[in-house]
Amino acid sequence: MKLAVIGCGYVGLVTGSCLAEAGHEVLATDNDAFRIATLQDGKIPIYELHLDSVVETVVREGRLRFTADCAEAVRAADVIFICVGTPPTDSGDADLSAIENVARLIARESSTPKLVVEKSTVPAQTGEQLKRALQVYARNTDVKFHVASNPEFLREGTAVEDFFHPDRIVVGVEDKESEQQLRELYAPILEGRFRCPVHQPNCPPAATPEFVVTTIASAELIKHASNSFLGLKISYANVLADLCERLGGNVDEVTRAVGLDPRIGGQFLKAGLGFGGFCLPKDIQAFIKLADRAGIEFGLLKEAERVNKQRIDRLLEKIKKALWVMKEKQIGVLGIAFKPNTDDIRLAPAIEVIRRLRAEGCVVRATDPEAMTRARVVFPDLSLLVDPYEVARGADALLILTEWEQFRRLDWKRIRNEMARPLVIDGRNMLRTADMQALGFEYMSFGRPEFAPVPSKF
Ligand code: UDX
Repeated sequence: MKLAVIGCGYVGLVTGSCLAEAGHEVLATDNDAFRIATLQDGKIPIYELHLDSVVETVVREGRLRFTADCAEAVRAADVIFICVGTPPTDSGDADLSAIENVARLIARESSTPKLVVEKSTVPAQTGEQLKRALQVYARNTDVKFHVASNPEFLREGTAVEDFFHPDRIVVGVEDKESEQQLRELYAPILEGRFRCPVHQPNCPPAATPEFVVTTIASAELIKHASNSFLGLKISYANVLADLCERLGGNVDEVTRAVGLDPRIGGQFLKAGLGFGGFCLPKDIQAFIKLADRAGIEFGLLKEAERVNKQRIDRLLEKIKKALWVMKEKQIGVLGIAFKPNTDDIRLAPAIEVIRRLRAEGCVVRATDPEAMTRARVVFPDLSLLVDPYEVARGADALLILTEWEQFRRLDWKRIRNEMARPLVIDGRNMLRTADMQALGFEYMSFGRPEFAPVPSKF
């Protein structure tokens, strides 16, 4: 089976290279010729754990090839994965113009049967539109197109691991033939017949992933429903954190005990600065819009979104309460990426926090292990320093905005000595209050008891 991947962004690169690693022949393409040239040059334009070694191996072994000629990729393939972007429009709907362009290209260039698989996150009923577009733009009316939806559940930072060790593989299909083709495609993953790029020499024991076959509309909904539920869980934990602050509990203790109930589960109950990135916020927004258009009021999700947006206000309130006057205060920022192990800063809470601090007249210095190059594009005049100790030097406050493991391991005693005022505001509840207290810091986080050796209230 020959595969084409259209769109060499994050999803396309991970999907294409991992399917090649699983033994398939993949031709990957993108309409951004510079991106393809970069990839042909052996450079990976995103930071993702294990991705560079997977791409290097499969390119060397001849199973993955990059081409700027999208038509060539279409003509050669039996199965085509559409992995193009669906960014939000100003109204919050997903912009599907890239998907339509690809559909027209496939319709124009195909002379053999194709299974066209939606991988991009798309609103329900896109499959229907895609099928229609393939039919109406087809030059050769004898060519048979099948459409399927195969949503991805890849987390940035662990995407390669998630690809090879999924909880489930969801395929939305219209006929047995497409189901069978996708089952064959994923057989190496389902049967554990792959060389795992993550675990050496053996993968830890894990349950066999379930191959879930649904209608196309259900598969489209499953993606939105999963990501939105994760956002709901995080916002729920964040409201619990606010309650703990008022009522005197500790949110870490509360969510840990709540999450031990297997009906609830402990993941995605970490309180803090809220969710960012290009998936959760955008998918929730698109799901709300989708529901609105279907005449369903999804107030539950609107509230989760509102709670999430408020997290930044809550952090700013904490900073203002501690610093009193913001103008000309020196603020150090640890972490810019929307979460650790990625260089992605899209919709990262840190970006908005930095923007607002600067608008208040604060002098901000920041660091991040991977996201500095991207941050420089957004803030060309921001002081971005590689050394976290330099970020702390002379600071009136140090903010933790991404919970990178490197930050946990810093010499915090040294940090305390570098700072003008040893105040740490931990937006990710990364450090332990007792440890920070023992080191003599004023320490604030979300939903946990605060510690200030010198009273911060007048
Ligand atoms: C998400 C989904 O997890 C993945 O299945 C989907 O395919 C793509 O979208 P990703 O965007 O990589 O993945 O990030 P994720 O790990 O879900 O984290 C999203 C945000 O939520 C981050 O900003 C993270 O810091 C925040 N988060 C996560 C919390 O604030 N608390 C938590 O308990 C978990």
